[in-house]
Amino acid sequence: MSQLDYRDKVAIITGGASGIGAALAKHLGVLGARVVVADRQEAVAEQVAHEIRSLGGSAVASALDVRELASMNRVVTDTVERWGTIDFFFNNAGIGVGGDVAYYTPADWTDVLEVNLHGVIHGIQTVYPVMIRQRSGHIINTASMAGLITSTGQTSYAVSKHAVVGLSKSLRVEGKAHGVRVSALCPGAIRTPILQGGKYGRMRLNAAARAEVSKMWEMLRPMPVDELAPKVVAAVARNEAFIIYPSWWRLIWLLERASPALTSKLCELAYARLREQALTEQHDPEVPAPPADADRKAADM
Ligand code: NAI
Repeated sequence: MSQLDYRDKVAIITGGASGIGAALAKHLGVLGARVVVADRQEAVAEQVAHEIRSLGGSAVASALDVRELASMNRVVTDTVERWGTIDFFFNNAGIGVGGDVAYYTPADWTDVLEVNLHGVIHGIQTVYPVMIRQRSGHIINTASMAGLITSTGQTSYAVSKHAVVGLSKSLRVEGKAHGVRVSALCPGAIRTPILQGGKYGRMRLNAAARAEVSKMWEMLRPMPVDELAPKVVAAVARNEAFIIYPSWWRLIWLLERASPALTSKLCELAYARLREQALTEQHDPEVPAPPADADRKAADM
């Protein structure tokens, strides 16, 4: 399939208000797809949809909390009612919690798993049956390089992303029998708000360790989202199983498979400095505590 074939195709993008999701939405809009920008940040999603429409594209915004199956169901049902089909489902919304597991609270595990894993599962539970009925469609689950390699300082995130990789591998095989394609998008470092935790994530780190993390991301030269989106959309058209950008991260994955002990050692060395700072300074009292359930609605405003 060439990129031109995206014309009039229907694409839902979860987490479409920001970063990678917003860039994918805009690029698909330019290619002529009909786009649903679905996000917990509803007002920002509307801005993205408005931008796509102002460039002549076709887009709507939809309020979505991927943690709620009913919310996902509504987005999917509305889309089928509006446009009759779902051709592409970018299961993309995600949050990050950075920091050493020594400082984790139980919520640092559950918050990440609720969004990054259960959110993805909710997407599949609602979209997959539609695509099976259609006998066509492509689900693109956003995992991460953190789902393919050893990844410290963001362990709950790595757990969630390894799970999304596993899910995608299995579903790719099962889906084939139903005419449904499945890919795992595994970006390396991409310049988006999630590098600092994102709107709903957090860095459970003191100031020194936060500065160290920022320096580390800069060393990895995060790719701009506008550069990433066309590459991802082209890779989806080629039905790649694992979509990895920036491409040099593929070498790291190769190294991990060739010698897990070696990548583990490299990771240990890279993490040593951050760990030292995170563990030797008092935990920063200004690091926000995870939001209680009751506060979640307020945070959405
Ligand atoms: P981002 O923070 O810019 O965007 C994440 C989006 O998800 C935001 O619009 C946010 O409102 C939305 N979101 C969060 N919780 C939600 C919920 N409960 N329901 C609905 N929407 C929700 O971050 P980015 O980088 O664009 O992240 C997109 C995906 O890419 C995530 O799954 C992330 O884990 C993944 N990723 C990002 C990398 C990077 O370096 N930026 C690297 C590897 C993977």
